[in-house]
Amino acid sequence: MQRKSNELLAGYCQFRPRFGRVRENLEGVIRALRQVRADLIVLPELPFTGYHFRDRSEALALAEDPRDSDTVAALARLCKRKRMHLVTGFAERRRDRVFNSALLIGPQGLRHVYRKLHLFKDEKSCFDPGDIDLSVQTVNDFRIGMMVCFDWAFPEVARTLALKGAQLLCHPANLVLAHCQQAMLTRSLENAVYAVTANRTGADRRPHGVLRFTGGSQITAPGGRLLHRAPAARAKIHVTALDMSAAGNKWLTPRNHLLRDRRPEFYLA
Ligand code: ACM
Repeated sequence: MQRKSNELLAGYCQFRPRFGRVRENLEGVIRALRQVRADLIVLPELPFTGYHFRDRSEALALAEDPRDSDTVAALARLCKRKRMHLVTGFAERRRDRVFNSALLIGPQGLRHVYRKLHLFKDEKSCFDPGDIDLSVQTVNDFRIGMMVCFDWAFPEVARTLALKGAQLLCHPANLVLAHCQQAMLTRSLENAVYAVTANRTGADRRPHGVLRFTGGSQITAPGGRLLHRAPAARAKIHVTALDMSAAGNKWLTPRNHLLRDRRPEFYLA
């Protein structure tokens, strides 16, 4: 695919991680991305460990410190070889704390860590809540923001990233409810941003219960347009050229600016 100067080749890799098989999941991702040409690929939430932890000690045991992680080192080598960036979910250990994080990794290695702010259901028993400000990073001169799965239910996250200049929301997910895909159309509409939601398929079958995930990874565009949606139950990689200049136009009508017309003095914090 030929890229123009205002375009970013961005996409996702949807697949079915096997719980606890970090090495096998990592090798599967590296194999799957071998032939892919992209500037930026988004992977699901917790794509190497799996999602349905029994408890906090199990999450801590499988988590890695990204500054000293074989998984991150292998992904950085992949990024260097392919001259691309990855945004990936990651079980992040920091001493005795453990976060459900997203990492930005590029050809030079780890670039940024975002720790999920809004933990979903039993994640509250397994992870520490995020403690790092939402921020915007540059990839090929374009501005991206990161959020993780259930952050979709808090429009403040996408809004804050848009106010900080994000043109593209990178959104690793392990979705179990049916609402997110629709909600992300609205996040794209109300902020005039692109969003890549990378979900997983299959189920985590654990002794303490089964969790099924809904696939349907998607790419949404300013105007609330759905550019692409994956099937619910099949592995899929999709890359598309995003005209990033479209995310610079925040006028919904000639007289309505999505960011400047806000009335924060009337909003609750
Ligand atoms: C979720 O936040 N993984 C539903």
